[in-house]
Amino acid sequence: MATKENPAGSPLESLNMQAVLSMRSSGYYSQRTAGAKHAIDSTISLLRDALTSLPESGVLRFADFGAADGGTSAALWAEIVATVRSQGDTRPIEVLYTDLPSNDFSTLFKTMQGMEGNLSDAYQVNYGNVFVHGCGTGFHRQLMASDSLCLGFSATAMHYVSEKPCEIEGHVHMVGANQVERDMFAQRAADDWEKILLARCAELKKGSRFIVLNFGIDDQGQYLGNTGGHSMFDKFTEHWRMLQKTGTITEKEFKRATFSQHYRTVEEFRAPFDDTQSLVSQAGLRLKSIRTQLTRCPYEHAYRDANGAISRKEFAASLIPTMRSWSETVFSSALVDREQQEAQAIVDQFYQCYEDEIAAAPDGHAMDYIHAIMEIEKT
Ligand SMILES: C[S@@+](CC[C@H](N)C(=O)[O-])C[C@H]1O[C@@H](n2cnc3c(N)ncnc32)[C@H](O)[C@@H]1O
Repeated sequence: MATKENPAGSPLESLNMQAVLSMRSSGYYSQRTAGAKHAIDSTISLLRDALTSLPESGVLRFADFGAADGGTSAALWAEIVATVRSQGDTRPIEVLYTDLPSNDFSTLFKTMQGMEGNLSDAYQVNYGNVFVHGCGTGFHRQLMASDSLCLGFSATAMHYVSEKPCEIEGHVHMVGANQVERDMFAQRAADDWEKILLARCAELKKGSRFIVLNFGIDDQGQYLGNTGGHSMFDKFTEHWRMLQKTGTITEKEFKRATFSQHYRTVEEFRAPFDDTQSLVSQAGLRLKSIRTQLTRCPYEHAYRDANGAISRKEFAASLIPTMRSWSETVFSSALVDREQQEAQAIVDQFYQCYEDEIAAAPDGHAMDYIHAIMEIEKT
């Protein structure tokens, strides 16, 4: 359990938590998450705008919080570095990538050094006086010296809560939780949001910005994989429940597959800024703008546009890996008491059932993204 002296909890507890939160490694994550990259690319104008108010600083320190293997944001950072240099700014640039200790930092460093991925995004080798660093500590804490950050960025990461407040009885995600469970998640997410903002506030230099796009719930009640057709999290629940009903997994394993996530509403994102007496407002953070955005599922989009050139089976086989890239660790961690091979076979069966359902009747299956996009400034 987390305590004041040991805010991250015991090492073992933290390790278990990290296994559940992690993306699949060896570049699997960024190779199969084109939608996450599209969402990131859509924020380039906010970052360019932030460059116009860079603070006085000998070194330009930028940070990408919860960067995974760095592949989805590589083009964005390459563009930012190019913009800074095209303005004649020759100051040293440090880019600090943060994630959990279990993250695939190896792929990240190889990508930045041009050993993997798109060489034109390897800004570390394409520009001089640019330094890439990694930080394997969670973003609920301060991660660098006070007043040293010139531009902070985070994409699709801060919906992960620091600890699951409970297992959800009848669903896998807080979007399908009962009211008591949902309130517990909301409280944990509110405390985490305050911690995240206070930590960023301490790191940022005055006048600097933190651009964050985060999964959330929009004013029509839409969220990831739930934008009109089937709800992806309901489908996860149905197929996971089927494995329990057929005796493949136990009730305990069913409940353990609770995502450590909370999708905040716009109101929840705004709360610490709207309250002028909050610690966040008092510390000097201001919300410059917030909007929600739907990014269409690229796999469903491609299938629709192909007019039959992509088969139902091919569509299903393209959609499941993007879901799998970030959700698989939740289901495999729920089977922690089993031999790895046995657990893997169950997880494969679980995704295969979902894939077969999509292949049989693809209409309404998609993983559209719903983000809240915020520009936050330290005043
Ligand atoms: C869905 S991925 C997003 C990766 C990338 N930013 C993108 O938009 O494609 C979420 C990332 O957040 C990381 N993460 C989750 N909780 C975290 C925490 N407390 N501190 C740092 N990173 C965390 C995960 O390990 C994962 O790499």
